Amino acid sequence: MARLRKAAKIWAKPNARELAGHVMIADDGLVFAINPPAIFGRRAPLEIEIGAGKGEFIIERAASRPEQDFLAVELSATVSRVLAVRCGRAALENLRVAKMDARALVNVLLADASVAAYHVYFPDPWPKGRHVKHRLFTPQFASGLYRTLAAGGTIYIATDVREYAGEIFAMVEGAGFIRAAEVAPGARTTGFARKYLAAGKPVFSASFRKPAHATSSR
Ligand SMILES: C[S@@+](CC[C@H](N)C(=O)[O-])C[C@H]1O[C@@H](n2cnc3c(N)ncnc32)[C@H](O)[C@@H]1O
Repeated sequence: MARLRKAAKIWAKPNARELAGHVMIADDGLVFAINPPAIFGRRAPLEIEIGAGKGEFIIERAASRPEQDFLAVELSATVSRVLAVRCGRAALENLRVAKMDARALVNVLLADASVAAYHVYFPDPWPKGRHVKHRLFTPQFASGLYRTLAAGGTIYIATDVREYAGEIFAMVEGAGFIRAAEVAPGARTTGFARKYLAAGKPVFSASFRKPAHATSSR
């Protein structure tokens, strides 16, 4: 409740809608394809954070890499408003926000080989058996990540749930990705990462690469 009240307060500020309007795409639910060069007005490697929360990670990353473009995707209407206001405040030319279900983005809306990297940090684990169907990661979603990543592209993942980590990593490898040595950069720096690390909770993270000579589908 406190989180919702805080989000409503941020949204009620006089310039909140204007700030969010600078970065928000696809607010009307009428988007049938995502065309990054049209959104950013240039062709640059695109990194996408799925379930970006309040944007702690992606705002910092976009600010430090102006030569790349960044899309923060967030399903929750309340959270995406806060995210958009914060991204709007950052006033970065290379950062946009999409309020949408990442499954539609990855499975349908993005072109083959159009993404340089994905970041997925602390996806909701839906721990109750009857809720497992709501999880983001499925073999189909992992295949969508593979299709839309450019050859040699990377997916970075972190979760605080050991079993879910094992399942996700197996699905991603099953889709054709190869485990990479690179550290997942958000595993210690997203909002949830900071909270879990401060509480002494373990974090399970890994990165996976699409082979350099791969085609979009397997
Ligand atoms: C546990 S939070 C983690 C937020 C952020 N990644 C972090 O580490 O601080 C998971 C986030 O994913 C979002 N989310 C869940 N399912 C999603 C989906 N299908 N598409 C996009 N975002 C989603 C939730 O609304 C929530 O903000």
